[in-house]
Amino acid sequence: MPFLAQASSASARIDSVFLWVFAVCLAFLLLISFFLVYFSVRYRRSRNPEPEDIEGNAWLETVWTLVPLALFLAMFYYGWTDFQYLRNPPKDALLVQVIARQWAWSFKYPNGKQSDQLYAALGRPMKLETRTLDVIHGFFVPAFRVKIDVVPGRRNTVWFTPTLLGDFDIQCTVICGVNHSAMLSKVRVVSEAEFKEWYFSDEAAPRVPAAAAPAAGKEPPIVGLLRGKSCLACHSLDGSPMVGPTFKGLYGSRQTLLIDGERRSAVMDGALLRKAISRPGSVQVLGYPPIMPPAKLSDEEMEDIVAYLRSL
Ligand code: HEC
Repeated sequence: MPFLAQASSASARIDSVFLWVFAVCLAFLLLISFFLVYFSVRYRRSRNPEPEDIEGNAWLETVWTLVPLALFLAMFYYGWTDFQYLRNPPKDALLVQVIARQWAWSFKYPNGKQSDQLYAALGRPMKLETRTLDVIHGFFVPAFRVKIDVVPGRRNTVWFTPTLLGDFDIQCTVICGVNHSAMLSKVRVVSEAEFKEWYFSDEAAPRVPAAAAPAAGKEPPIVGLLRGKSCLACHSLDGSPMVGPTFKGLYGSRQTLLIDGERRSAVMDGALLRKAISRPGSVQVLGYPPIMPPAKLSDEEMEDIVAYLRSL
């Protein structure tokens, strides 16, 4: 459908099935409405006081059976062939792991590179293998017409070939908890050359292409690390309340905590921070749900994070 800009190889197919079904429904709506009105007038009581007994009409009945049959089979045919297309990624598709958690997406590439936005090269097929670390999520890129449920214990896959440069929204389609609506990310479609440059660079956080730079600006690598580990899905850096307590002013504050199940008043220091981060269950903040997932951090990352929290 050339009148809509198609952002992926799947979108043209899905849109044409949709438009086909829509056009058939619209045509029938108009046809049936027309006959409804026409017969009401034509066979009104004042004109036909004595109802007639109308015999069957073999020709008409054959037509109105075969025409809808053909139309429905055509719907099935288009639906089925497009389903086949959507289920069979090309062999050379780049395999990317999609990891969903409350409330963030992360994407892991074959070379180990990890990102919180999905980088894709224009015209290069990409296969996504999904998994979730907690509840059911739904991976949806509306502009690509690509959607798949992310279900615990399953590795559902989906694929696409981006056909337009730019940023496209990723949304979670399954209510997955209080911050469900903030579980957003983007697919960044860049040229093959730009993709390679990003893919083989050691940058932890993806570079923002000049053309599509959001207001975010440059953030320090430590913030990129916290974002990459999903900490910022639940904690803020500026004091605003989120699902978890803010990181601002946390270090050195006196708190009433459940430490190893015991209620205690304690000052947040380095040791307690390390414990709260590596074994969230053992340090519980009263008034917050005990939902913080244990983080997988190297010793170095842990020390960087503790040092950073101390500076806030
Ligand atoms: C799914 C949401 C979620 C994510 C992701 C998350 N946290 Fe938490 N975090 C919480 C909640 C909720 C609490 C408070 C309840 C509790 O202690 O279990 C908490 C508590 C904490 C505390 C103790 C705060 C205090 O006031 O004593 C620290 C420190 C912390 N988180 C650090 C981190 C770090 C670092 C990361 C990333 C590696 C992280 N969190 C990821 C939800 C989250």
